[in-house]
Amino acid sequence: MCGIVGYIGEKQCTDVILSGLTKLEYRGYDSAGLAAFKDKAIETRKFKGRLQILDENIKHHPIESTMGIGHTRWATHGAPSDVNSHPHTNEDHSIVVVHNGIIENYLELRERLSKNGYKFTSQTDTEVVAHLLDELYRGDIIDAVRQMLSIVKGSYAFAVVCKNEPDKIIGVRKDSPLIVGLGKGENFLASDIPAILPYTREVYLMQDDEIVVCTRDGVTVYDKDGSEKPIEIFHVTWNAIDAEKGGYEHFMLKEIHEQPEGIRKTLHYMPEDKDEVILGDVKITKEDLQRYNKVYIVACGTAYHAGLIGKYLIEKYARMSVEVDIASEFRYRNPIVDEQTLLIAISQSGETADTLAAMRLAKNNGARVMAITNVIGSSVDREAQDVLYTLAGPEIAVASTKAYVTQLVSLYAVSLHFGLLKGTLTKDEYIALRRELYHLPGYVQRIIDLDKKIQNIAKEHKDKEDMYFIGRGLDSYVCMEGSLKLKEISYIHSEAAAAGELKHGPIALIEEGTLVIALCTQDFLFEKMLSNIQEVRARGAYVVAFSKRSNEAITKEADETFFIDDMPDDITPIPTVVYLQLLAYHFATERGCDVDKPRNLAKSVTVE
Ligand code: AGP
Repeated sequence: MCGIVGYIGEKQCTDVILSGLTKLEYRGYDSAGLAAFKDKAIETRKFKGRLQILDENIKHHPIESTMGIGHTRWATHGAPSDVNSHPHTNEDHSIVVVHNGIIENYLELRERLSKNGYKFTSQTDTEVVAHLLDELYRGDIIDAVRQMLSIVKGSYAFAVVCKNEPDKIIGVRKDSPLIVGLGKGENFLASDIPAILPYTREVYLMQDDEIVVCTRDGVTVYDKDGSEKPIEIFHVTWNAIDAEKGGYEHFMLKEIHEQPEGIRKTLHYMPEDKDEVILGDVKITKEDLQRYNKVYIVACGTAYHAGLIGKYLIEKYARMSVEVDIASEFRYRNPIVDEQTLLIAISQSGETADTLAAMRLAKNNGARVMAITNVIGSSVDREAQDVLYTLAGPEIAVASTKAYVTQLVSLYAVSLHFGLLKGTLTKDEYIALRRELYHLPGYVQRIIDLDKKIQNIAKEHKDKEDMYFIGRGLDSYVCMEGSLKLKEISYIHSEAAAAGELKHGPIALIEEGTLVIALCTQDFLFEKMLSNIQEVRARGAYVVAFSKRSNEAITKEADETFFIDDMPDDITPIPTVVYLQLLAYHFATERGCDVDKPRNLAKSVTVE
């Protein structure tokens, strides 16, 4: 949520900031703004709406400046408006702040500062910080920031500049991402790596409670007590192109097309020339596994849906009892967690506030915390004891696609690894399953190639206001993911129902013309799904079914059918979900929705 870019060097700072914000717009797009040093003053421009508005403004009225900070906002406190946009300043505009996160005690601070004569112009929590810094400033902005940190409560990443000290940008973070890009004669601050990749690959990943001071000539890192800390440089190996649209109309479509490659890379955890799973940084042993009497998987949104499949796999192959929790529920429900607990957190961004809180809760109670994440150096990565990376490459679209399928591949690897360690899976069984998994990139590619057929379904039904997804077993979890994808980008109301539950309520919603997506990929549940399809069709539903090629009987029962290749039931979620991703994508484009920037959402949810 919210993107921050800071630049100090010799280039035109507005160019660097605007190009960086373009890469971060996925983090929020309610408004955008920037502040740049000009003629010993700081000039601020900020506008409600997309970044393009700011961009146009700067094009028509350029600011000559080589140092500044910028922001793209996902509104938390105060509606999207010009005045609530960042940057925020103190009254004489000498201290300027951009912020990502939430200041929890802002009301109390606002009241106190108002009593002391400070005038507020916005409804944001961030403006409090600008005035607070003004109150604390005694000629040393670093010192004022340090004092401010012991007063504000919440989660935040800030970039701060001060008119009287025009040679530095200050960055601080707590529970919100902020990275430093190190260049030659120039340095950068940003919420995420893609923003600075065109300029440098040398990055410092800031830790909580650190203060970073960027000047043209260098970067200094201090801990919260003011002691200087060494800088450990992280060299980014992935390409800037990976985070560009590369000719596709939308990031989401590009990322759907990248799935065969992401799967292929993540399959490397199960090398074909060895009869074991190699999980790199995961150091969990056979003895550890024998000690754990409970496994929790915690995550949010799409990652939670991956977790549901993870539970099925770990229970089946490693015979361990698994509970899957939505992180925001887990953290507030007093779960039973101790030294005999293994918690697996799944997060694409590695910055999701609730997932991090769930991890901390588990750690504080003695549990072992393992993470599956897509972002090296993210908070989840740093706080987990064992980490497995999904090798999807940067995911930009708000709607998660390639991260989800690589999370599933990782969960196959984890469950099979645990099974082998515990002896609940034989080597031969493992090798047979791995062989099947290696077919997945091809299976997925074949579905992507059917894109036009899927688009036709969306064209025909684009005006529907409700849709239902039904399935049994693993399919029921894929239905949840398909339904989430559809609603988040096309705004069509949709629900996912375990097909066996239809009679217990949801079938009341089915009427003439209702569109029902029926997943029927589980052989042992196929007959039951046929009955469910008959039941909804008898009530007027139009059924689009998805099934294995060999289950041709489906064509007689459904109005339309799409096939996946024949494969073991346990691996069908990956190809099946790709159909549903394409379906959601085409519904959204047919309805004229902004696929990559759906309303009210942001890519990484760093606030509660
Ligand atoms: C997916 O399409 C969503 N936009 C969302 O549910 C996402 O999966 C969720 O916010 C969790 O994010 P994370 O994986 O980065 O933790």
